[in-house]
Amino acid sequence: MRFRSRLFVDLSKFESNFSLLKEICPSNEVLFMVKADAYGHGAVPIVRFSYSELGIKEFGTATLGEALQLRQEIPDGEFEIYVFSDIQIYLKECAEQYLNRRIIPVISNKEDLDYFLKNSEFKHFPLTLKFNTGMNRLGLDIDQTEEIILDIKKSGRKSIYHLMSHFSSASLSMSKSKRNVQQLEKFDSLKNDFQSAGIDVERTSLSNSGAIEQKGGLSETHVRPGLMMYGPSSLIKPERPNSFWKGEIISRLETYIIRVFEVDRGMPLGYGATPCPDDGFVAIIALGYGDGFLTRFQGATIPYKGHLGKIVGRVNMDMAQVFFDKSAGEALKAGEVFTVWDHNPERFLDFAEQTGTIPYELFCLLTSRVPRTYNLD
Ligand SMILES: Cc1ncc(COP(=O)(O)O)c(C=O)c1O
Repeated sequence: MRFRSRLFVDLSKFESNFSLLKEICPSNEVLFMVKADAYGHGAVPIVRFSYSELGIKEFGTATLGEALQLRQEIPDGEFEIYVFSDIQIYLKECAEQYLNRRIIPVISNKEDLDYFLKNSEFKHFPLTLKFNTGMNRLGLDIDQTEEIILDIKKSGRKSIYHLMSHFSSASLSMSKSKRNVQQLEKFDSLKNDFQSAGIDVERTSLSNSGAIEQKGGLSETHVRPGLMMYGPSSLIKPERPNSFWKGEIISRLETYIIRVFEVDRGMPLGYGATPCPDDGFVAIIALGYGDGFLTRFQGATIPYKGHLGKIVGRVNMDMAQVFFDKSAGEALKAGEVFTVWDHNPERFLDFAEQTGTIPYELFCLLTSRVPRTYNLD
């Protein structure tokens, strides 16, 4: 575990992001996505705070294991948990956990649906279906809707607890992207099919962050934000001016400077002996690929006290070299805190772009060696 490098999570910024979300979609219930350890921010503290301080009552994980961790560590939490992709309800040990802990599997293929409807233990359990309206990943086949309606009726059910779909391209314009428009249309017609067949649809949701930012899909009962709650926009750069999202990054990735030394142009640096780009200074920081600070971050820039550092040479398992020009000499001091990203969303998105990744991945990369710390504890 790192001692001084940490991901500091500012829960008051998280609270502000939630208020901003509610300004965009005041009438929708929120099913908050906390998979992958709440996008790297620590699922247990994030869910505990969301539930007790913000009143969020529905959470989404990818796996049953993630859902069980929440049930075990927040035993008095009376919230819903949906498991989205890794459900495995056909395994006896998994089915028991769903039933005993009231964890809702999101059913997205016909085999799982058949199993669910035929297994008497699930008879009174909430039926949640996710359809493929164009994502082409998981999702029940829209062409099988008629058959699915018959199966549901045969099982004696009169309602679907939650009907879902998922956008494939919500980072693009909701109004101009043909795919987004088609997905919305398909979802509307799906709801109509169920309703005309006399099957009540109690809850519906479609929109992830990109759609919500553009006020897309808000006629459903629920929204399913993930990324935006942690701060960044998920829209591609040219679409960002059309976003209503004004959130801040809820975390700061902090490390410290282990050592500073003067360098000459061409001087070999670290593993691989990369020649130094110019005369100046190198700060060795306490983050490496063992922390999720990857070798491909080489070349990206990081501002520090009004100077611009550049990651040079090969990032090691435990350290990385940051080059500064000569003007930074006075500012660089061993032992001082060095912030890789702070609460500024533009800066965060720029770092993601420079490192050839996406904001989702940048958060999720951080390994367990980097402690997550929280204010308002
Ligand atoms: C089914 C589903 N809904 C909602 C989300 C949230 O997406 P985002 O983080 O883009 O808001 C995800 C995340 O990938 C998802 O898989």
